[in-house]
Amino acid sequence: MRTEQALPVRLADYRPPDWLVETIELDVSLDPKATRVRAALQIKPNPKAEAPAPLMLDGDGLTLVALKLDGEPLAAGQYAATPDSLTIAQPPQKPFRLEIETVVDPSANTRLMGLYRSGATYCTQCEAEGFRRITFFPDRPDVMAVYTTRIEADQADAPVLLANGNLVASGEVPGSGRHFAVWHDPFPKPSYLFALVGGKLGFVEDRFRTRSGREVVLRIYVEPGKEDRCFYAMDALKRAMRWDEEAFGREYDLDIFMIVAVSDFNMGAMENKGLNVFNDKYVLASPATATDADFAHIEAIVAHEYFHNWTGNRITCRDWFQLCLKEGLTVFRDQEFSADQRSRPVERISDVRGLRAHQFVEDAGPLAHPVRPALYHEINNFYTATVYEKGAEVVRMLEVLLGPENFRKGMDLYFARHDGEAATVDEFVRCFADAAGADLAQFMLWYSQAGTPEVVAVGSYDAGAKVYRLDLAQTIPPTPGQPAKEPMVIPLGLGLVGRDGRDLPLRVADGRKIEHGVLALTKPAETFVFTDIGEAPVPSLNRGFSAPIKLVANLTADQLTFLAARDPDPFNRWQAVQTLATRLLVDNVAALRSGAAPRRDPGLLDALGAILADGTLEPAFVALALTLPGEADIAREIGRDIDPDAIFSARAALRAAVGEHLAAEFAERYRRLTDTRPYRPDAENAGRRALRNVCLDLLVAARRPNAIALAAGQYQSADNMTDRMAALSTLSLCGVPERAAALDDFYARYGDDPLIVDKWLGLQASIPESATLDRVKALTAHPAFSMANPNRVRALIGTFAMANQTQFNRADGGGYDFIVECVRALDPKNPQVAARLIAALKSWRVLEPTRRALAEAALRRVAGEASLSRDTGDIVQRALAES
Ligand code: BES
Ligand code: ZN
Repeated sequence: MRTEQALPVRLADYRPPDWLVETIELDVSLDPKATRVRAALQIKPNPKAEAPAPLMLDGDGLTLVALKLDGEPLAAGQYAATPDSLTIAQPPQKPFRLEIETVVDPSANTRLMGLYRSGATYCTQCEAEGFRRITFFPDRPDVMAVYTTRIEADQADAPVLLANGNLVASGEVPGSGRHFAVWHDPFPKPSYLFALVGGKLGFVEDRFRTRSGREVVLRIYVEPGKEDRCFYAMDALKRAMRWDEEAFGREYDLDIFMIVAVSDFNMGAMENKGLNVFNDKYVLASPATATDADFAHIEAIVAHEYFHNWTGNRITCRDWFQLCLKEGLTVFRDQEFSADQRSRPVERISDVRGLRAHQFVEDAGPLAHPVRPALYHEINNFYTATVYEKGAEVVRMLEVLLGPENFRKGMDLYFARHDGEAATVDEFVRCFADAAGADLAQFMLWYSQAGTPEVVAVGSYDAGAKVYRLDLAQTIPPTPGQPAKEPMVIPLGLGLVGRDGRDLPLRVADGRKIEHGVLALTKPAETFVFTDIGEAPVPSLNRGFSAPIKLVANLTADQLTFLAARDPDPFNRWQAVQTLATRLLVDNVAALRSGAAPRRDPGLLDALGAILADGTLEPAFVALALTLPGEADIAREIGRDIDPDAIFSARAALRAAVGEHLAAEFAERYRRLTDTRPYRPDAENAGRRALRNVCLDLLVAARRPNAIALAAGQYQSADNMTDRMAALSTLSLCGVPERAAALDDFYARYGDDPLIVDKWLGLQASIPESATLDRVKALTAHPAFSMANPNRVRALIGTFAMANQTQFNRADGGGYDFIVECVRALDPKNPQVAARLIAALKSWRVLEPTRRALAEAALRRVAGEASLSRDTGDIVQRALAES
């Protein structure tokens, strides 16, 4: 067993590999309990390494059966094999062939890393370090080899046999009831991109013609009978392939592209070369089974994994510290894709909401780390919001600072210069510096400094001098291991909005340039003086969320109300509403806790009314503007001594006030948005449904007469899952008999469909009532629940811990105790999922004293467990560490 105290891996210790692998021929004979893996590696010394070195291959729980070097068995003294490593102390200092035979048990693989079974299907997951659970190999991304994979299996058990690349041979193994397939992938790749699949699968097929005229076969494989739920994923795939050609000049490069959907998967999806493996949650969709949000996720994730073919696969990462090189960049690409396919402002607002909800919280707590970490104990724990979402923001800032043309030139240079290589973040950024002739040395701090910068902006207008002065100061809070910070380059999108709602021309007194409407802050404090400003403007700052910062500006409520109605930047219109609502909610939480009377804000209610009445706005945007900051948003803003019950009450009161104030408008809009045409998942229709369901939800929040009946009626009569779920979720917030009836009805309708059962589990786990903990505990014994399936665990236990602020943070500590019990049960079976669950306790230090003590005690109990996985051990150690 590994111990949690294993030495950390450090970026500074990177050395090129001593040995390279040119080709690997794999021969995998699938068997439920004893799969035989023969690997033939063509190995050569790395000319870049210091010779001569021993050959050390990684393993993880492997059983070695046979070993040959250049055709000769090795004598016992010539090698050392443990389950976790294979060492040849004195290999020949020239190219040689190494043949390794191992045996693995896919049915016993509960970690879902390496070769495992999802139901009866054999599948693999190798990122980050799963290939070493299949065979001994230098399992690091800078060793790129050409793979040829022969798979053999019982014809009846696994009629479909898939691996990376193109199919080169297949046939029967005479007289054995077995058959085989041989796949060859001509593109050298790191081991983490290897995949194979075997099973009884159906598929849908389509074709794509690349812009240079190559025909590519597209296939999506699923459990037989579910083929009719693959069409949206297929459509998204074709749109993504076209978009990558148009937006980035990137074409697909093999004859076939395959997606396989499996039911047991630790993550969302995986970009294995030519053979993406997906959590079926992100493939399967039909109007009756999936919500608008599900459709949008499927589109984004299909695109994301496809885009990795260039940003991740053709150009991969030199080492795992460079993870953001593929993930941050590919998230940026999938966000841009969704913005182009749907609505740019709506996509931006959703992405920023996600960033603040996950990354800002991570950055403010004990698990904060830079976009490019300098050290890790367990790489699985660094697939984080910071690497992904802040990583995407850093790429976006390059585009904002350099402009779209220079950004595209930099990307083109990156593809030209590094195709076929394992690259670094430094090499990536150098392409932009070279293409744009820019100095990006200070910009690199975004990769190395953790913490969310805070920018304080103070504006003042001098009518006599016709001058507007803007004082800006940046600070970056301390984070673990980084007590003091350097000032960063902060691209601040800016407009000075005149009374008529139009931007005033920007002229800076000292001649400094404002390119693309963006001020680039570089110092701890800077002042910009704008001349020829004929009226008092309202400043609109950090437009489009140009930098991932916390902005503190001295705007009055009237100025915010003005921006909510008139800002030409739609993001900042939304932001103005959020800022007004957040100020009110923060005040009212304090009032509730001190027994003072809550404040009312008629200005906010009027601003919301004006947005609802503004016919020029798209419904999806209006829906977002009417969605008040969540409990977690309010907690983040308060920052310390958090009382989740007070936050819940303040928010519920404001929701009721909004629903009351605009009741007539909501009822009328709800009616007008009703549409009897057949369901279509496109953005426009989804936006219409979103707004209609927000209207319903706020009417219920205000307990308007008939609102419950309206929701119950919508639940019953809905012809699609979006409207049915929306009604159920609104009802679930009220302790009314209609709720119980609808929940029972829902299970009766969908109890045999696991992905829909997940919605049912998640909804019950979110109910903000004290009976929820017992309900969730009882559901862990429900026949539809299983601790072995990551989707079930996330739907029930994950939702309870991550999305039910009041009940997870019960004042008696029962919520924490429950999560500790779940983690104890889960950790020996699936450490990755367990580690993500225990991370729900990471913000323990910001809680009020009683909860804080209970949460800390819960973490300490986990830390004290006798045998803890490296994954979970790493999270609890860092969560408890005094930074
Ligand atoms: N490469 C990852 C999948 C992965 C993550 C494998 C961690 C192993 C460990 C994939 O490209 C990815 O990022 N998937 C995301 C979804 C994506 C749209 C952000 C996921 O699985 O959540
Ligand atoms: Zn990814």
